[in-house]
Amino acid sequence: MPLSIVILAAGQGKRMRSDRPKVLQPLAGRPLLGHVLDAAAELGADAIHVVYGHGGEAVRDAFAGRPLGWALQAEQHGTGHAVMQAMPAIPDDHQVLVLYGDVPLVRPRTLEALLARAGERSLALLSVMLEDPSGYGRVLRDNAGNVYRIVEQKDANRKELSVREANTGLLAAPAAALRRWLAGLSNDNAQAEYYLTDVVALAVRDGFKVEAVVAPTVAEVLGVNDRAQLAALEGEYRRLRTAELLAAGVTLLDPARVDVRGPVRCGRDVVIDVNVVLEGEVELGDRVVVGPGCVLRDVTVGADTVLHPYCVAQDAAIGERCSVGPYARLRPGARLLAGAHVGNFVELKNATLGEGSKANHLTYLGDTTVGREVNVGAGTITCNYDGANKWPTVIEDGAFIGSGSMLVAPVTVGRGATIGAGSTITRPAPRGALTLERSRQQTLAGWERPKKADAEARSQQIERGRLPPDPDAS
Ligand code: UD1
Ligand code: CA
Repeated sequence: MPLSIVILAAGQGKRMRSDRPKVLQPLAGRPLLGHVLDAAAELGADAIHVVYGHGGEAVRDAFAGRPLGWALQAEQHGTGHAVMQAMPAIPDDHQVLVLYGDVPLVRPRTLEALLARAGERSLALLSVMLEDPSGYGRVLRDNAGNVYRIVEQKDANRKELSVREANTGLLAAPAAALRRWLAGLSNDNAQAEYYLTDVVALAVRDGFKVEAVVAPTVAEVLGVNDRAQLAALEGEYRRLRTAELLAAGVTLLDPARVDVRGPVRCGRDVVIDVNVVLEGEVELGDRVVVGPGCVLRDVTVGADTVLHPYCVAQDAAIGERCSVGPYARLRPGARLLAGAHVGNFVELKNATLGEGSKANHLTYLGDTTVGREVNVGAGTITCNYDGANKWPTVIEDGAFIGSGSMLVAPVTVGRGATIGAGSTITRPAPRGALTLERSRQQTLAGWERPKKADAEARSQQIERGRLPPDPDAS
């Protein structure tokens, strides 16, 4: 059957105490809803509909680029009412899978198992065994073990409350029947809401097969209602990702002190030290070493490269056999070719450092192309910004930039050129030649340092207005 996915995301999330809609709260650096959408995307659905709430334009805007159907639920009258808002857009012959926008860690594999149990005459719901199911709806089974109803915590009697099989809220059912059941819901219950969960009893009444698939792990069905739960899921996400890295052969000096907030691909024998944060998509080649305190976002690192402690890199491509840091900053568009070295307090932005080239100390390279085997001396600055526009700097192969040089862009340093230390270069520096720009050094013979006057001479000078009044005097 064709598949339509409905993601419920209209809840206010009052307990988050935030101005931001709950499903936009970040987990591992991405909105909760983004995680659910990614899981949904892996199922190859024909359509994905998001039920969003009043004032939730921000939710739509956050995912403007994606091919999604949007259904407004202006007032929240319950999960059944929420699904109803999406149904007009869903054809009768579709299978409908309901997900929650605030249950971010659900695994596609689990959803596939759920869908495998749903069919034209069957409804499948995802349940979970909990030590403490309080707050959740309970899955009620008859003596033969068949599910016949779900009862909400607030509507349950004591016997029902003792059931430990909880409803996750996620379910799959054929669209035509679901439409019929939703139309038959009543809000005559403890919360005066239209409960999606009531479709289970209606399915049983109609002779449908109802199956509860028990979620293999608890974490993947946990929802976020408050900050504590969000933090718990952040930890859970971290544990999942670090377990994957360990299984893939990566050395983590302390798995509890690495934060992985996105997909990471690692080669063989990669070592990651403590307090490292990996965000977005990160790729680490064979034998890469990531020193303590490094923060990498959307970065690729080639084989045998060492990132020394406390490097920060974003949207950067680091080649093989490079050495970076400690304390290097690679901003978007930084590119290090094989064997390049970037040392402490060096910043690159939209800049390429060619093969074997080095910028080892206290340097800024912006909008710059550096050729191969170039030595950029300590304290070199490319002055790329004139207050209005950014200009390029080109440093050709084999050039040597003396320490403390200002390269005022647009400017080119020719192949094999040498720039004398302390120069401010504003015009092209020709190939192979020494170019320097300095005022002549002079020494003044017989010059003496000024001396402090004694107290009496001082007060006389103040009276005559030759010295400013003493600020310490009362
Ligand atoms: C629901 C289930 C309960 C289950 C629990 C799991 C019902 C009646 N109960 O309860 O059996 O154990 O989830 O967490 O379904 N939402 C809307 N519009 C609404 C109401 C809710 O979009 O009008 C969305 C929320 O944003 C959330 C999801 O639906 O993503 C669940 O809503 P929530 O209020 O958390 O449901 P519970 O009462 O916890
Ligand atoms: Ca909830």
